[in-house]
Amino acid sequence: MKICVIGTGYVGLVSGVCLAEIGNRVICVDKDKDKIKLLKSGKVPIFEEGLVELIKKNTESGNLVFHSDAGYGIKESDIIFICVGTPPLPSGKPDLSAIDDVAKLIGQSINGYKIILNKSTVPIGTAKRIKKIIKENQNGGNKNYDFDIASNPEFLKEGEAVKDAFFPERIVIGSESKKVIEVMKELYKPIINQDFDYALNNTHRRNRVPVLVTDSTSSELIKYASNAFLATKISFVNEIANICERVGANILDVTYGMGLDSRIGSRFMKAGIGWGGSCFPKDVRALSYTAEEYGSPANILNAVIQVNNHQRFKVIQKAVNMLGIIDDKIIGVLGLSFKPNTDDTREAPSVTVVNKFLELGAEVRVYDPVVREYPEDMDRGAVMVSSPYKAVEKADLMVLVTEWDEFYNLDFEKIKSLMASLNIIDGRNIFDKEKLQKMGFNYTAIGY
Ligand code: UGA
Repeated sequence: MKICVIGTGYVGLVSGVCLAEIGNRVICVDKDKDKIKLLKSGKVPIFEEGLVELIKKNTESGNLVFHSDAGYGIKESDIIFICVGTPPLPSGKPDLSAIDDVAKLIGQSINGYKIILNKSTVPIGTAKRIKKIIKENQNGGNKNYDFDIASNPEFLKEGEAVKDAFFPERIVIGSESKKVIEVMKELYKPIINQDFDYALNNTHRRNRVPVLVTDSTSSELIKYASNAFLATKISFVNEIANICERVGANILDVTYGMGLDSRIGSRFMKAGIGWGGSCFPKDVRALSYTAEEYGSPANILNAVIQVNNHQRFKVIQKAVNMLGIIDDKIIGVLGLSFKPNTDDTREAPSVTVVNKFLELGAEVRVYDPVVREYPEDMDRGAVMVSSPYKAVEKADLMVLVTEWDEFYNLDFEKIKSLMASLNIIDGRNIFDKEKLQKMGFNYTAIGY
């Protein structure tokens, strides 16, 4: 099939590559000309396992091309995926200006029947909004072309996005049009049947991927509710971790015990410094905003956000308990990205923690295996260093924020010899408490 993917962020790029790999001709477009130039040169602006290789393979085969003119992509394709960003406005309401611009452009460029699929995470009713804008921007009269819109949310996790695109746990199609549903089932047939080259010998291969067909509003809500539920699970566990600290229980045992109940499950049960990223914070706020707007206050979601905000400051509180006055203390922070295996620092707990330490007068050194530039919102007063050991040299405190693999194998003898005071806050519960305490570290984690 001939496909145009508008927006080359995580979602657009990964989805586009996946669609090309299963045999479609895909034009990935982005208005950012520098990004397109970069992609054309074989470089990838995001860190995502397997992506560079797949882009190379599919651009060489001609299945995948990059273009900065969305109008061209729209005219050349039968199916258009909208994958542009919907960042939050200060109120929590998603900013739909990029979606509106794309809809306008589709209206202006449409040259025949098109199926428009929305993969961006959008508020309830956006499919109808896109439809209206496209109609308004068509030339009118005989030149008006027919089109259908459907919602097709993505469930990609950063760091595992390629795997999730090829081996999803479900495909959701939000449309009432029989024609669209048929075309989409045909488009996703190789994924549904797990019948494509990339799946061979891949351990993630599934038997068959379930397809859920529903109306576009329910489809849009499935996406929000899924992210909100996962965020709720984590905030719930963090709240239990805080109770564990008060009553002297161990959160690792508590979550393990809870997770053995298959109705609860063991995933997304890791207590820690809290959730961040470009999805959970934005989507939980957006769903809460929508709920409020429609007169159904989202009390649980609001508490989930509150618990998460509080969780970051728990680490500061622990630092104060350990060090007393923070002013002039040296603090080494390990990890900047909001989670491992990504270079994304949007709404990362690290930024809140580093900024607060700096505000309290500490000298802060930060190390991340992948992030090399200052996150946008992080105070430039922090010093970025090139190894975890440099971060803790002469430090009064080491704080683990992101559980990168590299940190599981730290040389604690070396760390002991480098630090001025042996204080560790493990914001992700990854270190061996007993071992570190025996070595003489003053160690604290989250919930045990
Ligand atoms: C999330 C969802 O998991 C995807 O299904 C969804 O498609 C995506 O948002 C999106 O909307 O595009 P992502 O933001 O990449 O994916 O990251 P997650 O792996 O879900 O982690 C989110 C946050 O929760 C991270 O800060 C992570 O450290 C934290 N987390 C996760 C915990 O604190 N504890 C856990 O047990 C699991």
